[in-house]
Amino acid sequence: MSESLSSPNIMKSKQRVAIVGGGVIGLALGWRLAEAGCSVDIFDAARAGRGASHAAAGMLAACAEAEPGEDTLLDLNRASQTLWPDFARALEAASGLPAGYRESGTLVVALTADDAAKLRHQHAYHQKLGLPVDWLTSVEARRREPHLATRMAGALWCPQDHQADNRAVSTALIAACARAGVRLHEDSPVDRVVTEGSKARGVEVAGVRHAADVVIMAAGAWSRGIETAPARPLPVRPIKGQMLSLQMDPAAPLLTHVLWGPGIYMVPRADGRLILGATVEEKGFDTTLTAGGQLALLTHAWRCVPTIEELPILEQWVGFRPGSRDDAPILGLSDVDGLIYATGHHRNGILLLPVTVKLILDLILDGRLDPLAAPFAAGRFVPRAAAE
Ligand code: FAD
Ligand code: GLY
Repeated sequence: MSESLSSPNIMKSKQRVAIVGGGVIGLALGWRLAEAGCSVDIFDAARAGRGASHAAAGMLAACAEAEPGEDTLLDLNRASQTLWPDFARALEAASGLPAGYRESGTLVVALTADDAAKLRHQHAYHQKLGLPVDWLTSVEARRREPHLATRMAGALWCPQDHQADNRAVSTALIAACARAGVRLHEDSPVDRVVTEGSKARGVEVAGVRHAADVVIMAAGAWSRGIETAPARPLPVRPIKGQMLSLQMDPAAPLLTHVLWGPGIYMVPRADGRLILGATVEEKGFDTTLTAGGQLALLTHAWRCVPTIEELPILEQWVGFRPGSRDDAPILGLSDVDGLIYATGHHRNGILLLPVTVKLILDLILDGRLDPLAAPFAAGRFVPRAAAE
């Protein structure tokens, strides 16, 4: 991997930064880099903030989604979770808009004895790692959420797993970028990163070159399709997720905490929207909403909270998680000097937003590679023989 950004002097002159992709990752990096004095252009193939960042549920679920074998990713997720309150405050101050951060906590419910056995197993893992997760009886769970199904077998309570309204975050980031002087180019698909030898010189959009000293690849699920030679194509693929939302009465919502049940999560927004998600499908960039996908979401949700039956359906949609080969993000230096990766955030790009911004800014502004970022370098995908 290139070492050229390791010079602490890199920011002595005003850096020109081109960012490929205007999702939450590209927008947040653009905002912060412009505030730090960089000259920033963000290029998006369509409309900024309308990719996975629009489709997501906005759960900041470091504990509820913790899986054995992903301990390094868990450290990154937990680090980002602690940064969220300050990040939300800074974004609101910079944009003058709400970031939709809500300290709602998360309940993970078991409906059957079998579900409860699985949850107990997961809880043992949480306890081994010292995560803030408590076991609740069904009576205790229903005290928190009175509309839960009467037949329940227990629940986990994750008091630090909150939520952010990802659509509000995108809107606020676009405003913060504008105030910071970022030039946002929509409907401007980047065809390739322009390189000379092994140095990034900018990006090419519809045959027109835009010069830059640093290029950040933040094109989410589309990152693989953008030419970066001599750097290898990134192992990022789209992982389709179908979602839908229902409208609750905001004055008397059926749920107030984020809720996970078998095959479903349910995220209540302050304005009464209830987001239900999500399918996980290997179908490329297929935008089809299917009867089977939607039926599964509604059935699983109805088993947890039967009273959703009466709620109107507001919206149904599809999004594409940027999944890497090991489901972890790709952060930091590439084989090309000046080309930086901030992509592959898969199921957790909203959660990982503040820590991604911190790690990439440290790298670009101070030439500092935080040890927290080291396991997520693109070099982990290079076959050993090729790396020698
Ligand atoms: P995106 O938001 O997809 O942005 C990439 C941008 O790149 C797009 O705007 C696109 O138009 C642009 N682009 C594409 N090609 C080009 C090109 N050639 N040139 C320029 N621009 C280009 N995460 C959580 O933390 N919590 C959740 O609850 C959660 N739920 C999710 C539910 C679903 C159904 C999905 C799909 C994702 C969910 N995620 C969640 C994951 C999260 O949404 C993503 O990890 C995150 O939004 C990735 O942000 P991004 O900016 O990298 O990508
Ligand atoms: N993190 C929730 C999802 O990706 O569906």
